[in-house]
Amino acid sequence: MITDTNPFIYSRPLSPEDIINRDDETQKLLKNVVGGHFVRLYAPRKYGKTSLLQRALRDGEVHEGLVPILVDLYRVSSIADVTVRLERAYSRHLRGPIRGRVEEFLQRTGIGLSLGAFGISAKLQLDPRVDPLPALHALLDLPLRLEESGGQRAFIAFDEFQDVDKVPDLDGLLRSHIQYQGEVASYVFAGSEPGLMKQLFENKDRPLYGSAVPMRLQRLANEDIARYAIERFRQTERGIGEALNPLLSVGQGHPQRVMLLAHRLWEEVAKGETATLNHWDAAFAAALSELNAEFDAQWRGLDTSEQKTVRAIIAGDGSPYKGDVLRRLALTKDMVRKALPRLAATAEIEPVDGKHVVVDPLFAEWVERINSD
Ligand SMILES: Nc1ncnc2c1ncn2[C@@H]1O[C@H](COP(=O)(O)OP(=O)(O)OP(=O)(O)O)[C@@H](O)[C@H]1O
Ligand SMILES: [Mg+2]
Repeated sequence: MITDTNPFIYSRPLSPEDIINRDDETQKLLKNVVGGHFVRLYAPRKYGKTSLLQRALRDGEVHEGLVPILVDLYRVSSIADVTVRLERAYSRHLRGPIRGRVEEFLQRTGIGLSLGAFGISAKLQLDPRVDPLPALHALLDLPLRLEESGGQRAFIAFDEFQDVDKVPDLDGLLRSHIQYQGEVASYVFAGSEPGLMKQLFENKDRPLYGSAVPMRLQRLANEDIARYAIERFRQTERGIGEALNPLLSVGQGHPQRVMLLAHRLWEEVAKGETATLNHWDAAFAAALSELNAEFDAQWRGLDTSEQKTVRAIIAGDGSPYKGDVLRRLALTKDMVRKALPRLAATAEIEPVDGKHVVVDPLFAEWVERINSD
């Protein structure tokens, strides 16, 4: 039986026990939720949005008596998709007597909804001509039914919320339901593309304009990462030793990149040993080589002036307008000015203390190698 397993997970959302300190963020989120405020949680990809939602949903259930529902809207492209995701979300999360009462209510609607295996999802699969809209309306009204059947507030988190934009008028439809649910449900909308999230919530012409408190998820603090990494190396009978500092300095608090680097480092160190700088070098090289294809695709997804602007940010240490760098890259200030907002909208870069920073520190390392070639 295998018992010596790598304790650093970087490929999926973490369960609440496994996350590095997000206590303040969880508290802040829950305070809003309990107060009946809707929240829009945004951060670049892989910053730990889903992990934080899972933690907040768990704590909300245990400590605040909320009914937690997590709806994943990743790549939804039709009303039918959204209906299925909602039905499955309720099916996964409802337990105990509430589940029984909701199931009874859904069945009484007579439109084929059920928390069991033969709900609207199965029906839509058997007959794609079935109109999912009445089912979606009923599902969106479920928080009212939860309230009627026990007085519990629902805590509903929509993950990957930016994808609602792919379904015409979906945000309007959502608004028509949730605007009457302030007393019975709290909604959190989590998403990663800052540009799209802005569109949905900050554009006066959009239905959800100004309807949610913005909350930006930040990088992790080095002291929290250090404590976690030291502890997990120790628990698995290893030492992180002198490799800790380069790991913190390269990872720059980027949650997923830090965990990936720690994972690679752990792989280099045998049980009973303590990591050295040689282990670190090997781990770092392994991480970059693992990501090479991904970065190559990411790079090719940028147009020429975006690529050059990223290079200029890195070469200029956060300031993309340095004369010698611009000259070397054959880049004009005007091109930079136009590329910056596009790069920020897709979270390739973000402002930190008045400078521009490439969000992914390993991508920055990779680009740096182009610069120095
Ligand atoms: N608080 C945390 N502590 C430790 N690792 C974290 C934390 N948050 C995120 N991570 C790391 O980032 C990875 C991705 O986390 P998660 O899926 O929650 O992020 P996300 O922002 O929802 O990503 P996506 O943009 O793909 O939806 C995890 O596998 C883990 O390695
Ligand atoms: Mg996620």
